[in-house]
Amino acid sequence: KAKASKAKQAQSRVKALERLELIGPAHVDSGFSFDFHKPDKLPNPMENLDAVRCGYRSEQGEVAILDNVCLSLRPESRLGLLGPNGAGKSTLIRTLVGELAPLAGRFDKDNDLAVGYFHQQQVDRLDHSDTPYQMLSRFHPKWSESALRSELGRFGFHGDDVFAPVGRFSGGEKSRLALAMIVQEKPALLILDEPANHLDLDMREALNMALQAFEGAVVMVSHDRHLLETTVDEFWLVANGSVTRFEGDLDDYGRWLQQNRRDGKPVKEEKAGDGLDAKARRQQAAQQREQLRPLKRQVEKLEKQLSQCDQELAKIETALGDDSLYTDDSRKNEMNALLGDQARLKKQHDELEEQLLEAMESLEQAESELTV
Ligand SMILES: Nc1ncnc2c1ncn2[C@@H]1O[C@H](COP(=O)(O)OP(=O)(O)OP(=O)(O)O)[C@@H](O)[C@H]1O
Ligand SMILES: [Mg+2]
Repeated sequence: KAKASKAKQAQSRVKALERLELIGPAHVDSGFSFDFHKPDKLPNPMENLDAVRCGYRSEQGEVAILDNVCLSLRPESRLGLLGPNGAGKSTLIRTLVGELAPLAGRFDKDNDLAVGYFHQQQVDRLDHSDTPYQMLSRFHPKWSESALRSELGRFGFHGDDVFAPVGRFSGGEKSRLALAMIVQEKPALLILDEPANHLDLDMREALNMALQAFEGAVVMVSHDRHLLETTVDEFWLVANGSVTRFEGDLDDYGRWLQQNRRDGKPVKEEKAGDGLDAKARRQQAAQQREQLRPLKRQVEKLEKQLSQCDQELAKIETALGDDSLYTDDSRKNEMNALLGDQARLKKQHDELEEQLLEAMESLEQAESELTV
């Protein structure tokens, strides 16, 4: 079973890569395009964690979030971290970055390792009066204005934008700026905590492409299924205080989440039962299920739309497999129309997938709040 789902995971990454290659030329038109630099050094291993306890220290004492974490990061590592909200993904990431010292165990990090760390609060921590232009010129003091502008342009900063104080930036602008700065650091290890959250589709696609070509290691947390599937090779599950290899794909993870919830239920039921007789409890349960219904319907609707979209996409892709499309000049218009449809459907697929993931998360949240 584990083997089968691993194969499936690899397969879906290959498929996603094929799709990326096909949409390549169309994507260039979107205006965003950047690359990570070739890392100067690729230490092996980059990092090694042996029985590490991750967590926080305060005046009241230590709070352990994860225990006995064993993990080795190598140049070819591409890890996706999965796990419910609050399970400790960001805590693990902050430990890998070196921001949180381990509470116990052994943590080794190569001295020459250049780490690029992306997280949501990154830009909020910067001096609010700083500007993209100033920030970039600190990395490249000798660059001309036009060189700096052209680099910033790759991340969507044009004209007066480059002199705007970052304190006024939107979430998307902040994320783009953070990415631009990480690129300048020439990382060998990229540690990305929900990098896509505020990015629009074009910029996500640019990030996705850049990650495909990146020659170092990646550790990523993301709710963007497409980004995960195309970027990482193995999943690790952060849950119940530990970090374990997850043998399966994202569909298996969806099932794992459901399973885990179901298994957790009876415990909750007993606790919530105090003071209610069986009938009152049944009524309350029915009422709560009723409240979940619109959310469930939304999930079902999106699943259906996504599967329709994928079927259409498959049809187009089959049609695009016809060699004569590319050799027969009289079929050029037909081919362009097919490529256009393909790009449109791919975009639709991504949007639907994202909406579905959000709907599933809302449902999950609502279910976890059930008391009966
Ligand atoms: N500075 C801190 N001191 C003590 N506990 C903390 C601190 N920061 C986070 N925590 C706790 O650590 C636990 C794990 O949080 P973390 O942010 O790592 O989860 P996560 O898996 O990244 O969640 P999400 O999916 O919501 O981002 C939570 O219970 C959180 O309350
Ligand atoms: Mg987090």
